[in-house]
Amino acid sequence: MKIAAVIVAAGRGERAGGGVPKQYRKLAGKSVLARTLHRLCHDGVFVGVFVVVNPADRHHVAAVEAELGTKLDTIPGGATRTASVRAGLEAARAAGAEAVLIHDAARPFVSRTLIERLIGALDAHPAVIPALPVADALFRTEGDTDPKMGEPVSRDALQAAQTPQAFHLAPLLEAFEQLGDTALADDAAVIRAAGGEVALIAGEAENFKLTTSADFARAERQVMSETISVTGQGFDVHRLEPAELMWLCGIEIRAGLGLVGHSDADAGLHALTDAVLGAAGAGDIGQHFPPSDPQWKGAASDAFLRHALTLLDEAGGALVHADLTIIAERPKIGPYRDAMRARIAALTGLPLARVNIKATTTEKLGFTGRGEGLAAQAIVTARLTS
Ligand code: CTP
Ligand code: MG
Repeated sequence: MKIAAVIVAAGRGERAGGGVPKQYRKLAGKSVLARTLHRLCHDGVFVGVFVVVNPADRHHVAAVEAELGTKLDTIPGGATRTASVRAGLEAARAAGAEAVLIHDAARPFVSRTLIERLIGALDAHPAVIPALPVADALFRTEGDTDPKMGEPVSRDALQAAQTPQAFHLAPLLEAFEQLGDTALADDAAVIRAAGGEVALIAGEAENFKLTTSADFARAERQVMSETISVTGQGFDVHRLEPAELMWLCGIEIRAGLGLVGHSDADAGLHALTDAVLGAAGAGDIGQHFPPSDPQWKGAASDAFLRHALTLLDEAGGALVHADLTIIAERPKIGPYRDAMRARIAALTGLPLARVNIKATTTEKLGFTGRGEGLAAQAIVTARLTS
């Protein structure tokens, strides 16, 4: 069966607050949407993965694409979740899907086994959702301004629905057709409104939806318990010579000195790239960008760093901190420190506070002391799926 995935990410996240829609907020170094996509899109199970977004979030989407090192198949969403799903279903139909998994971007902890169990259940059921029994005692509330407890409600016959929800596409499209402009809480409810049956499988407590800002604190703890902290270190040296300009830590410095090398010879970014490769367990910069390869002649070192970050991402890692030390008598780093920090924050997606640039001389000793070369060291911290 050809199955498409539709990820709804067009909401505003009003209950979570925080200035940025919750699916674009970072959780331990990686955006919620990137985490959700990571969990959902494995092993090429899907004929298409459609991410339904609000067109106003274009720059957030671009940041997630940079994080993942790949373009997303985005679809413009609607004013309600139901409208957003409808837009995603059209894309799934156009891609020739026979079935669809619909998932909230705001549930980044969906597991591989849950996805496999849902897909397995599609053989026997046209509609299947994960659900969890309710643990707390339930009651109705009475009064708006000063609410009081009303009638108790038995929880025996109640469950809470999660996503992903899985459906054969044709009957789901028919149910959406019948629904008209009504908005419902989820897609299983659309099937029910059309008189269809929805099968249940056991949901997972970890697969909770980020709804309020308190949920982010819980999610941070959950990520921490599922990941380990790793460090990577890098070191690089380039020869110094008189020149019009130098590239260092991703910025241009015009101080009468230049660095000599095959690429742009940005020792700062090279050390950082090696540190990121170290955290990813992915070898060193020379293996990925051999100096013997003419395509790297004069290359901007941004590309090396981006590639290393993609490898870290593929290894299940996310960068959380970077600290660099530049070792040279000249140029003086102080005047450029803020610009370097900002550039590295932009390249890595780290907040400014998680990037540090230090500089030192070697008291006129050694090759750096004599001004023959410039050295750079970097150390990074990353969270890696354990
Ligand atoms: N969603 C969507 N389009 C909408 C509304 C919601 O794609 N018009 C998506 C959200 O991005 C989220 C999922 O549906 O991934 C579940 O919705 P919810 O948790 O309600 O998210 P928001 O609507 O963003 O949050 P809030 O209701 O607090 O504003
Ligand atoms: Mg909502």
